[in-house]
Amino acid sequence: MREIEKLQAAAAHLRQELPGTPELGLILGSGLSEAIELKDERCLGFGAIPHFPRPTILGHAGQLCLGELAGKKILVQKGRVHYYEGRTMAEVAFPVRLMKLLGVKRLIITNAAGAINEGFSPGDLVLIKDHINTIPDNPLRGENIEELGPRFPSMNESYSPRLRELAVRAALKEGLELKKGVYLAAPGPMYETPAEIQAYKRLGADLVGMSTVPEVIAAVHSGLEVLGLSCVTNMAAGIGHSKLTHEEVLQVTAERGKALIRLVRAIVREL
Ligand code: HPA
Repeated sequence: MREIEKLQAAAAHLRQELPGTPELGLILGSGLSEAIELKDERCLGFGAIPHFPRPTILGHAGQLCLGELAGKKILVQKGRVHYYEGRTMAEVAFPVRLMKLLGVKRLIITNAAGAINEGFSPGDLVLIKDHINTIPDNPLRGENIEELGPRFPSMNESYSPRLRELAVRAALKEGLELKKGVYLAAPGPMYETPAEIQAYKRLGADLVGMSTVPEVIAAVHSGLEVLGLSCVTNMAAGIGHSKLTHEEVLQVTAERGKALIRLVRAIVREL
């Protein structure tokens, strides 16, 4: 079965089970799914959607929810799959491509990240202005899905300047500090070594995480307007004092999740 046929089958199922056309998509990362409340929310477990990949790790619920946020119809992906879980890039990109088929035009992607930039602190919210991919694969490798986008898409302005401006204004209005940075995707699942973090710093990265970039590549390929937001959960290896743990990452996102969602709501209101 071709990838586009799997996507079309999943889209047909979702149109039936969660009727209504979402204009916006939102992907919630580690520990962030609990913080959001949608009006008239209807959810479907990943397992109930044909061909949809299922996450394997703690802190990543697996549901697609359709509802209203700040008066706009939005499709929220609670939980995601990652490269480090052993998934193919087609699986990692599947939810984003599905959103495109369902009518989504703009996509907000969130994540938990480690800070390489020493001007950042745990708990900071950061607007992603660009990315660096060090995952040794991407969802566009292989046969191009012509129905979605071109063979050689530009990755210039992948993070929509228009949405970034709007996010800065929304943060100001909410009284939330919003920093800006370059996100580097590392393959994981191990956290980085201090030497790797020093190398990434020289490459120009402010943040490091294990997600987002494959999804952004798929989104840009299919013509979605993208906004990326990180919640800093820790200082990256060798920058901070302690050994990193997944529990620490989940704890900070649980604490700062509300602020991140408040920012997302304020952004959606302005759209
Ligand atoms: N490294 C990679 N991924 C992460 C980190 C980190 O320090 N923190 C949260 N996700």
